[in-house]
Amino acid sequence: MVFLTRRYRFSAAHRLHNEALSTEENARLYGKCNNPYGHGHNYTVEVTVCGPIDASTGMLIDLETLDRIVEQEILERFDHAHLNLDVANFKGRVPTTENLCVEIFNLLWDKLNGRGLARLEKVRLEETSSNFVEYMGQSPNPVKGVISEK
Ligand code: NI
Repeated sequence: MVFLTRRYRFSAAHRLHNEALSTEENARLYGKCNNPYGHGHNYTVEVTVCGPIDASTGMLIDLETLDRIVEQEILERFDHAHLNLDVANFKGRVPTTENLCVEIFNLLWDKLNGRGLARLEKVRLEETSSNFVEYMGQSPNPVKGVISEK
């Protein structure tokens, strides 16, 4: 089993705001990230696929295929978009780094899996140089004793 990670970049604007909460609650919860007109980030997304090496090509996955899928599913959708306003993915959902990371994983999951032997392992989304989120999908077999997310 080998792991391959490829890095992509996109820029997007967002506003952290939950419609279900009051103006005051939103301001307290999200601080300046709740400013009405939003703000931007230069995101870095790292897509990790894993699987066996194809004996005939010596590769895990054709990078052109990976690039095309990420371009179509992620970059065309999110680059230079306002996440709250321009894309359907965040209607009624706060576009935090956590939610965006999970969304990217789910968008890539169906497209990447079922092509050859490689499968999507992880998405790592960096919002600033100080913080990033990683998502590896829902575990089919949660470890005993660990509280799993419902
Ligand atoms: Ni932000």
